[in-house]
Amino acid sequence: MSEQKKSGSEKLWGGRFAEGTAASVEAFSASIHYDSRLYKYDIAGSKAHATMLADRGILNAEELALIVEGLSAIEQEIEAGSFEFKRELEDIHMNIEKALVDRIGPAGAKLHSARSRNDQIALDFKMYLRDQCDIIAALLDDVRRSFVLLGRKYLGNFMPGYTHLQRAQPVQISHHMLAYFEMFGRDKERLLDCRKRLNLSPLGCAAMAGTGLPIDREQVAESLGFDGVTANSMDTSGDRDFAIEFTSCCTMIQLHLSRLSEELVLWSSQEFSFVDISDKFCTGSSIMPQKKNPDIPELIRGKSGRVVGSLMSLITLVKGLPLTYNRDLQEDKEPVFDTVDTVSASLSIMAELLENLQFNTKVMEEATRTGFITATDLADYLVVKDVPFREAHGIVGRSVAYCLDKGCELYELTVEELQQFSPVIEKDVFEVLSVEGSVNSRISTGGTGLKRVEEAVLNAEKQMGISK
Ligand code: ARG
Repeated sequence: MSEQKKSGSEKLWGGRFAEGTAASVEAFSASIHYDSRLYKYDIAGSKAHATMLADRGILNAEELALIVEGLSAIEQEIEAGSFEFKRELEDIHMNIEKALVDRIGPAGAKLHSARSRNDQIALDFKMYLRDQCDIIAALLDDVRRSFVLLGRKYLGNFMPGYTHLQRAQPVQISHHMLAYFEMFGRDKERLLDCRKRLNLSPLGCAAMAGTGLPIDREQVAESLGFDGVTANSMDTSGDRDFAIEFTSCCTMIQLHLSRLSEELVLWSSQEFSFVDISDKFCTGSSIMPQKKNPDIPELIRGKSGRVVGSLMSLITLVKGLPLTYNRDLQEDKEPVFDTVDTVSASLSIMAELLENLQFNTKVMEEATRTGFITATDLADYLVVKDVPFREAHGIVGRSVAYCLDKGCELYELTVEELQQFSPVIEKDVFEVLSVEGSVNSRISTGGTGLKRVEEAVLNAEKQMGISK
């Protein structure tokens, strides 16, 4: 038998209840163990709300002063770790409100006028996510800065570019680094865009229909740094689009981190030996003494599973909900909090790892010398000499087959040997068959030619405020 409280009257909503809540129900429905994270926003929101209520004559000056002082004292207690959160008070809103009433009496009981927990939680959550957008955007910039520094450092060094994980065409290492600079740049834009859309205050929508009390929603919105107020109280009360959008922005970040991690795992393997991940970021094996494992990239790659999972949880959560607020929506916090923690930790450790990353430029360059990596350049060479591209493709294909047979690379053939496949080939062909020639010829916008990559590094440095 579950324990029952005699009456529901100690609850802030207990008036209409004859019996207390079952202990099992309290345990099942409480969210305080995770939504306590929102205390700062809950308190700031309550102060702004109380100030507006006073301006509107709903509270007097004395009551307002008591409320504001009381809330500040509660905030200090929470920060000092001396505040006692109570599970039977369900969530952060009621824990703070009850503590306020206990502390200052009847004035505290007036705070909830013209407000419901439905608009209150939307407010707290939006304010929290607004800050997280800024924090994660700054972490993205740390990672982007690392890529710009690597781009500058390895300018003029070559590596194979891959498609299908097969050596495809030689590229600048810097070009590869700046690819990630772009990816994480889009991530930042997406977050800031999400921030813009979520920055409308829900407060004053009350339970879902608005309120008859003479409130000023705009005043509260302005004092809390919102760009305005939401337009429809019913939409507002049941809306969690902003949480889904935020989590989907974070999912994209974690996916990018995961792809980067996969490359770091591959590149640090003996098979590639392209990079050395600093000892500080690796661990050994408990049984194989020779091993140095790239655990950090592996963990980041692994953690993308939980971020994707959180996005799935949120999407599924709202799927069948009728308007407006439903208690289901309380399930929105944990996936979002876990996403914030995972993405932030992954970004900061990745920035640190990149700062300590060393490329084995000799090995990388060596890898561009094999695998007929300049075959496309030979085809382009033929195109310039007026051979239709499809025909050129065939000529190069046959030359490669010949090399395979002979066990050599294209640049090791003589002009005479190459001329067997096309008479238009002349001595100048060796310029395009060289890695340098190949890379530096690719000066189309966005290409890997030295000139282009130099420009790109410079632009990126400007963007990140890095002066040379
Ligand atoms: N803890 C609730 C949540 O996170 C706050 C809103 C509760 N509203 C209600 N009508 N029970 O969604």
